[in-house]
Amino acid sequence: MKKSSLHPFAESLLSWYKSHARDLPWRQTRDPYLIWLSEIILQQTRVAQGLPYFYKLSEAFPSVYDLAAADETTLFRLWQGLGYYSRARNLHKTARYVVDSLDGKFPNTYAALIQLPGVGPYTAAAIASFAFDEATPVVDGNVFRILARYFGIETDIMQSSARKEFTTLAEELIPESDPARFNQAIMEFGSLQCSPGPSCDTCPLNGSCFAYQHHRIQDLPVKSKAKAQRVRNFQYFIIEKEGKILVHRRQKKDIWQGLWEFFCVESEDLNKSIERYPFLSLMKAFMVPLSSPGIHVLSHQKIVSQAFLIRLPEKFSFELPEDYQWILSSEFEQMGKPVLLLNLITDNLVLKELLDS
Ligand code: ADE
Repeated sequence: MKKSSLHPFAESLLSWYKSHARDLPWRQTRDPYLIWLSEIILQQTRVAQGLPYFYKLSEAFPSVYDLAAADETTLFRLWQGLGYYSRARNLHKTARYVVDSLDGKFPNTYAALIQLPGVGPYTAAAIASFAFDEATPVVDGNVFRILARYFGIETDIMQSSARKEFTTLAEELIPESDPARFNQAIMEFGSLQCSPGPSCDTCPLNGSCFAYQHHRIQDLPVKSKAKAQRVRNFQYFIIEKEGKILVHRRQKKDIWQGLWEFFCVESEDLNKSIERYPFLSLMKAFMVPLSSPGIHVLSHQKIVSQAFLIRLPEKFSFELPEDYQWILSSEFEQMGKPVLLLNLITDNLVLKELLDS
């Protein structure tokens, strides 16, 4: 049932927003492309850190056509510092899809927006409301936190059913008239007032907030600990000799079965890797550390990786580790590899050049 009058929560929230709203560039536009761009950036970082990226990217690519036509190197250069280059790659892919398949027009409903690659319920609701005035509530961690506190909801937000429950409540609250304003207000409220460490003493909603009234601010929202992730350390050695590199295909029952990778030693540091493969000690003179250890998060594992480039002189010989083979460096591009390695290559010019040649 749709409401005809404003819920007291919405009323207080909107009145709070009137005096607290920051003047942010994505609030000055109804262009779904710019709104989409801003939300993808804000998935990566906080508002203050995201602002310069929004200015840079929207200036370089003022329309979805410009982004679709961009070359990846330019986009990556502008994206640099935001992390997760796969997000930039997906951004590019979605822009091309909108141009090639949708005639450059973003869909104008939540139901159609959510069909776009890389657009989930939160982003679809943000675009549908900010650009097209559809009364679809944004529901993210901020909204879970605010509603759990204000209404005293004890549902564990890690539970998969939580999103449905919070969305149903938010649908009751969002007004039909100016839903965009409600969504901007709730994001702002989560960011400035009802933050993880909230400012309850100055909050105009504290008189009707369940958590404040019942001294439950510390307990809400209920969030069970995620199952401890298994942490693994991978050391990659890109061993090159005479235009060839050493690779293998991952076989055994483990992550990335069937994908190709460089010489990989599962160990915590170089000394331990050398202990396992003494020939690495002889290669030390040619070894250059490539990237600071990166963390790659999979659904149940965290991979901490480190990479070293080793360009060997022709005369250097050693016994190949089991299952490894030499391939032309240029062949690696065509071989299926884990995202971790794609990112490592994309982020590293020396490596990119070596593999392009
Ligand atoms: N974080 C994500 N989206 C936001 C928005 N539209 N305004 C402020 N902070 C945000």
